[in-house]
Amino acid sequence: MAFVTRQFMRSVSSSSTASASAKKIIVKHVTVIGGGLMGAGIAQVAAATGHTVVLVDQTEDILAKSKKGIEESLRKVAKKKFAENPKAGDEFVEKTLSSIATSTDAASVVHSTDLVVEAIVENLKVKNELFKRLDKFAAEHTIFASNTSSLQITSIANATTRQDRFAGLHFFNPVPVMKLVEVIKTPMTSQKTFESLIDFSKALGKHPVSCKDTPGFIVNRLLVPYLMEAIRLYERGPPGFPVRPLELPPPPLQSQPEQLHGRPRLISWFSAFD
Ligand SMILES: NC(=O)c1ccc[n+]([C@@H]2O[C@H](COP(=O)([O-])OP(=O)(O)OC[C@H]3O[C@@H](n4cnc5c(N)ncnc54)[C@H](O)[C@@H]3O)[C@@H](O)[C@H]2O)c1
Repeated sequence: MAFVTRQFMRSVSSSSTASASAKKIIVKHVTVIGGGLMGAGIAQVAAATGHTVVLVDQTEDILAKSKKGIEESLRKVAKKKFAENPKAGDEFVEKTLSSIATSTDAASVVHSTDLVVEAIVENLKVKNELFKRLDKFAAEHTIFASNTSSLQITSIANATTRQDRFAGLHFFNPVPVMKLVEVIKTPMTSQKTFESLIDFSKALGKHPVSCKDTPGFIVNRLLVPYLMEAIRLYERGPPGFPVRPLELPPPPLQSQPEQLHGRPRLISWFSAFD
């Protein structure tokens, strides 16, 4: 059952049509599929920067938890951002939350969206099935993007008939904190799609970088061998000096110890850059 009102979809539809006529797609309305760790963060940041969002997941229970998590995260942001004006902080939280509708039926909400960002389970078959289905229901101009960390974007795009409007949009955890976004271009991604995603990332307040569709993109390609070397050094025997990747979380997490969730720090380091 979709939890999206007719009025909400009408307002979304008119803004999408207007932007579709422009050269680049100016993303106003975003559908985020998957309300887990990454999807909830992406939905939060998109809504907080003036976009209209529909967040999709498999059950109402998951969506309720996801929205609760977004609200808690927004309250933390508001406490810092509006330290001098708590009333403005409350208004910011309410306004942002009111820009996020939820649905358990992706096909019924993508007909008038400018961008679909997928952040579901890391499984090629499941991602392909999802995009193949959505391709039939989404508007002609709609861009599809996957937040996958390890799958080839081309292999996901091939499940659709819109390879020119398909790219990777790789955010980092925690999304509201981490500035970097990798925008992954396949050989079929059009320049218009690529530039639209660069503009969208900037509109989110992020720092986009261009990547080719190669394993690990940029960050994981550098980071994973670095971490493996740290483990090898450690296994060789006590190194006699601190091995930073094993000892310390990265800077944004150091200042936010609650982000560690009590997990071993190496795991936290991995997930921060996943
Ligand atoms: N966790 C990270 O640090 C991180 C960082 C960057 C990218 N990624 C990538 O982002 C994606 C999501 O990762 P995550 O950590 O948020 O996972 P997660 O398990 O926290 O969330 C995935 C969500 O997708 C939902 N889901 C699964 N199949 C679905 C479907 N068919 N339709 C709708 N919803 C569905 C699940 O119910 C769950 O809520 C993965 O591709 C992962 O590789 C993860």
